[in-house]
Amino acid sequence: MLYDYPEYYEVAFSFRDFFREVDFLEKCISKYSDIEVKNVFEIACAHAPHTEELIKRGYHYTGMDINRNMLDYAQYKWRFLKPVPEFFEGDMTKFNYQKKIDFAFVMLGSLYLNSIQEMTNHFDSLSKILKKGGLYFLDWCIQFSDPLQYKDNNRYRIEKNGIEIESDFNIKLLDITNQMYEEVWTINVNDHGRHRTFKMVERNKAITPQEFLKFITERTDFQFVGWWKDWDLDKPISDFSAITRPVALLKKL
Ligand SMILES: C[S@@+](CC[C@H](N)C(=O)[O-])C[C@H]1O[C@@H](n2cnc3c(N)ncnc32)[C@H](O)[C@@H]1O
Repeated sequence: MLYDYPEYYEVAFSFRDFFREVDFLEKCISKYSDIEVKNVFEIACAHAPHTEELIKRGYHYTGMDINRNMLDYAQYKWRFLKPVPEFFEGDMTKFNYQKKIDFAFVMLGSLYLNSIQEMTNHFDSLSKILKKGGLYFLDWCIQFSDPLQYKDNNRYRIEKNGIEIESDFNIKLLDITNQMYEEVWTINVNDHGRHRTFKMVERNKAITPQEFLKFITERTDFQFVGWWKDWDLDKPISDFSAITRPVALLKKL
């Protein structure tokens, strides 16, 4: 599992502009949150790349992930930040947290819910800890376009701190009724001359906009706020065309 090697995972996804992304989170909060946000809670945090920027801006950060290596890496990496971020091991399909949270978020399509039952359990869990009027922000968790567009067409190379990564992503449809896909992600690493290859095969459900809206509308504890493209609140999504990293926002009622 690449997730067992957080340094490589971190390099592979280091192309993002975390400053700009946190700016966007703050814009959502200032425009749509009904409550003051003091603490933020990240689902599937991995190495928690937004933590530093969030803590600099005065938020208390908590990250949850299922992978112990990722959490240990994040805890070590961010140990100098004040207030010290909190990390805990948990499964997004059913979790609990002892404190109430003001804002929840999940980044980079990391919402792994493979059935309506898992979606229900996830939102039930979140509902118990997210304060009324607080927001849930989802980055790239809803598929506005055919996931098969990434078939044979998603390769890139990136280098950071002397570690070179070559990433190759492929996808195939497994079950059209339940929108289940098999994703194969191959990563070639050159770590200062040491070569390794990781191959991750995951079965994931694509959540379509229609399914997501219906699911949220049928619940009484979350309200749909909106969805946008290009991380820009002036660009609401109005048609279901190809969009990279669409973001969505919900509010706890
Ligand atoms: C794409 S990565 C995380 C992305 C990260 N938030 C970022 O912005 O780079 C996916 C993460 O989801 C975690 N994960 C997978 N299944 C999970 C589950 N059921 N509950 C919690 N975390 C999970 C993995 O361990 C991994 O760290």
